[in-house]
Amino acid sequence: MYPMAQSLLATAVSLAGGLGFLTAGKDMSSLASSLSHSAKLLNHPGASSSPLPVGVGFIVWGADLSAAVEVTRNFVPAAVWLFSPRQAADLVTWTEKMREASGGKTRVWIQIGSVAAAVEAARLCNPDVIVVQGADAGGHGLARGAGIISLVPEVADALAREGHGHIPLLAAGGISDGRGVAAALTLGASGTVLGTRFLAAKEAEMKPGHVEEVLRASDGGVTTVRTTLFDVLRGTNKWPAEYDGRGIANRSFEDAERGMDTEENKRLYEEALAKGDGGWGKEGRMITYVGTGIGLVREVEGAGKIVEGLRKDAIAILEQTMARF
Ligand SMILES: Cc1cc2nc3c(=O)[nH]c(=O)nc-3n(C[C@H](O)[C@H](O)[C@H](O)COP(=O)(O)O)c2cc1C
Repeated sequence: MYPMAQSLLATAVSLAGGLGFLTAGKDMSSLASSLSHSAKLLNHPGASSSPLPVGVGFIVWGADLSAAVEVTRNFVPAAVWLFSPRQAADLVTWTEKMREASGGKTRVWIQIGSVAAAVEAARLCNPDVIVVQGADAGGHGLARGAGIISLVPEVADALAREGHGHIPLLAAGGISDGRGVAAALTLGASGTVLGTRFLAAKEAEMKPGHVEEVLRASDGGVTTVRTTLFDVLRGTNKWPAEYDGRGIANRSFEDAERGMDTEENKRLYEEALAKGDGGWGKEGRMITYVGTGIGLVREVEGAGKIVEGLRKDAIAILEQTMARF
């Protein structure tokens, strides 16, 4: 999650027993210093002993592979997260290079959004983990996709049929509390990935107006939308054609729906951007990527407390459910 997920957030998640991911996105200029800082916060003795217990996320279509190789070699993160290649062959190159750079110590996680992409990733890369991203997820994802309730079991069945049933699946998209975690586990996922919920973590690198916007929004099926407009406004519209992004339906989106010319919309967006932190809010034009689970995100908490709460609540819900039937 660029730029919100830096060393403070990732290490807090890992220290609570999750695996926190640092953002690399496409811009890797600060990644080495974030990894150094993470190592310090985790009191990690160095890459030669054991992998650093955080992961690093890469947007494959835009990230610099040689820079990714260098940081993976130098820091040996526990996992690298690969997402959104222009073509499947790029995933093969990235997987091989990441494994080579870490001497096989760094696990390769690949996030996909369809059954076909899961089978292809499994066949070509044999990743250590497949993250199944459903359509409710915040941020970028496939424009055409299913929610995890059907996607996770269908992916599991397809992988088992093709002889890849050994690859653990993690569910992502719309999970914001222990109920969502318990549901994903009963679907057959080995674990869950949460993005939106951690936007309200104390350790997320967020401006106050952005945090307010995250806490303000609710009823995410109505108040968030999948669109490419936000990329157009930000000038980040080089994503592969099948991707868009889910975020809060802001004033820019409503104006575009009513037919506002893109140039005018962009001009107004840039004006709002210049206002800095004042550009968020109900009538705002600042862009807030979040998933449909946003209505369940109601307060700012420490990331460790969030992880512990999710685990405790999910276990309690699973036990209560078993007791009921
Ligand atoms: C603000 C934000 C930024 C994100 N940035 C990335 C990213 O840089 N790379 C990536 O693979 N996924 C990114 N995602 C998507 C997550 O990987 C994940 O699929 C999603 O957060 C899960 O759904 P949830 O947001 O409903 O928890 C982002 C999500 C959000 C909300």
